[in-house]
Amino acid sequence: METRIRRSARAAFLALAAFALASPALAQEEEVKLAPQDWTFTGILGQYEPAQLKRGFQVYREVCSACHAMKLLAYRNLAEIGLSDDEIKAAAAEKQVTDGPNDQGDMFQRPARPSDQFVSPFPNDQAARAANNGALPPDLSLIVKARHGGPDYVYAILTGFVDAPKDFKLPQGMYYNTAFPGHAIGMPPPLTADRVTYADGTKATLEQEAHDAVTFLNWAAEPELNVRHNLGLKVLIFTIVLTALFYGLKRSVWSDVHH
Ligand code: HEC
Repeated sequence: METRIRRSARAAFLALAAFALASPALAQEEEVKLAPQDWTFTGILGQYEPAQLKRGFQVYREVCSACHAMKLLAYRNLAEIGLSDDEIKAAAAEKQVTDGPNDQGDMFQRPARPSDQFVSPFPNDQAARAANNGALPPDLSLIVKARHGGPDYVYAILTGFVDAPKDFKLPQGMYYNTAFPGHAIGMPPPLTADRVTYADGTKATLEQEAHDAVTFLNWAAEPELNVRHNLGLKVLIFTIVLTALFYGLKRSVWSDVHH
């Protein structure tokens, strides 16, 4: 009995000690304050803007897709952000996929179709690391959900490349980023002003490109948001109307009762 109490006391002490040791490290990682951005899709009634999503896809297609896969998307999903059938076919056909076997039993290459998943830039993780100085570019399908800070964090990464402070030891082939934990990131700064020429004529500042790209990535991770928020609005209006009706009913039911 006594040993059991002693054992659990020791366990509690060890847990406390581990926490005390770990918390300065945690505090250090939390130190980066993310500037909250103005997103159209946040808040209970927020919605995606089709023009932003299209521009964001353009940034992914022309820049990020050189290194990052988005395996959870198929080209046909782009219809949901307003691309026409021809635009979708063209976006798919830019990439080659391995198909087969054919009648001779051989695998063959063919242009991707709308029903194919987004084609990954590298055949496997090892090839991706080999091409990126050992760092693995993560799949971006769910990245906004997978990182603390969500869209504000991904925006801060894309806009957070600056020269390293003089006393900072930046390992070979790494880049300094104000938002990345530890600040040394294996991704070269992907965006600069006019990195893309927007099809809709919007001025392509670094901030604009980052904002659009993150909006697109948020859609990829949460494509049903518009529908959900629309339903939320309807439920809200319904509840208000119902409350008013019940209030009227209560008044009429009790109108004969004199105090
Ligand atoms: C030249 C290749 C390359 C391009 C182009 C590129 N990235 Fe990356 N990216 C990387 C690599 C490599 C990493 C992994 C970095 C690490 O772990 O140190 C990474 C990591 C990331 C991360 C994860 C950061 C984290 O918290 O782990 C995000 C988000 C990201 N990239 C977004 C983008 C977006 C959006 C674009 C397009 C605008 C883009 N990247 C373009 C190579 C690239």
